Amino acid sequence: MAKNMKINITKTTTPKEKPTGTLGFGRNFTDHMFIMNYTEGTGWHDARIVPHGDLSFSPACAALHYGQETFEGMKAYRGRDGSCYLFRPEMNARRSNYSNSRVCIPEFPEADYIEAVKTLVTLDADWIPSAENSSLYIRPFFFADDPFLGVAVSKTYQFIIIMSPADAYFGAFEPVSIFVEDEYVRAVKGGTGRAKTGGNYAASHPALLRAQEHGCAQAMWLDGIERKYIEEVGTMNIFFKIDGKIVTPALNESILAGITRDSVLTLCRDFGLTVGERPLSIDELVEIADAGKLEEVFGTGTAVVVAPVNRLLYKGKEILVGDGNEGETSRRLYETLTSIQRGDFEDKFNWRVSL
Ligand code: COI
Repeated sequence: MAKNMKINITKTTTPKEKPTGTLGFGRNFTDHMFIMNYTEGTGWHDARIVPHGDLSFSPACAALHYGQETFEGMKAYRGRDGSCYLFRPEMNARRSNYSNSRVCIPEFPEADYIEAVKTLVTLDADWIPSAENSSLYIRPFFFADDPFLGVAVSKTYQFIIIMSPADAYFGAFEPVSIFVEDEYVRAVKGGTGRAKTGGNYAASHPALLRAQEHGCAQAMWLDGIERKYIEEVGTMNIFFKIDGKIVTPALNESILAGITRDSVLTLCRDFGLTVGERPLSIDELVEIADAGKLEEVFGTGTAVVVAPVNRLLYKGKEILVGDGNEGETSRRLYETLTSIQRGDFEDKFNWRVSL
């Protein structure tokens, strides 16, 4: 534990109205947020929970200028009997430290990370929605806040957690189209692709706009050297069902190691499916689709959960997937994963953490 992990709690005196109806994603925020500061020499200190509200910092704040920041996405779920759960929070705590190390943000003790999330979720537990496709999206993030315009590793940081009751990222479980980006790249070997840092997402915006102009939900990234091998998609890792077998790009330095990706691989193996983590080129995928063997495509991620894909657009050519409907494997994975997360199915992999 950090030296000063005792969390000081100041409760709001003006609790907000909870949203009703469609929640969307990331628009409504709960009553409270967690904040902790880091100062060189002292370490992490002043853990506190305060009413959710605007922050105040210098316009010279390092993160605003040079992007020294990282974030995570995780969720809390409400079971049918009212119980509340987190899903594999230790994986987020670990990945957060990997991301932090990549942009020189000081390590944060993993036990404290989980403690901070648990304390905040418990305080705002009545914000965890109970509708089938909804959950409480939790956004922990770190940023450098030195008021200094020199390019340097900051000496001060903040760790903040905010929370938002949300539906799945794409709303209903319905197939989406994906644009295969062949000009811009997301990440290169030696870059920050494996870290969850905001700059990766800022640099992806031109491709997202191009995808949207073509009627697609997100862009699929190819590797940064040959623009040949499939890496991942906007906010998700990507899976293919080819001739009965599941294939996903093997992790490398430029692919984000998704926690949902890891869970889906485990579930696929548990279902008895053959799973391959390997390089897969876009040309091979086109040949597979032309031969009628591309049965399913689906994305995975904390925000999207499991999102079926029925169409890819590559260099003006449409690659159609299966019969155009959601596939049986993506539906089974979505239902199994969300049932484990909500406490409806046995937790045979010890993924749930009760609150
Ligand atoms: C998540 O799935 O939690 C993500 O980080 C995606 C986010 C950028 C919406």
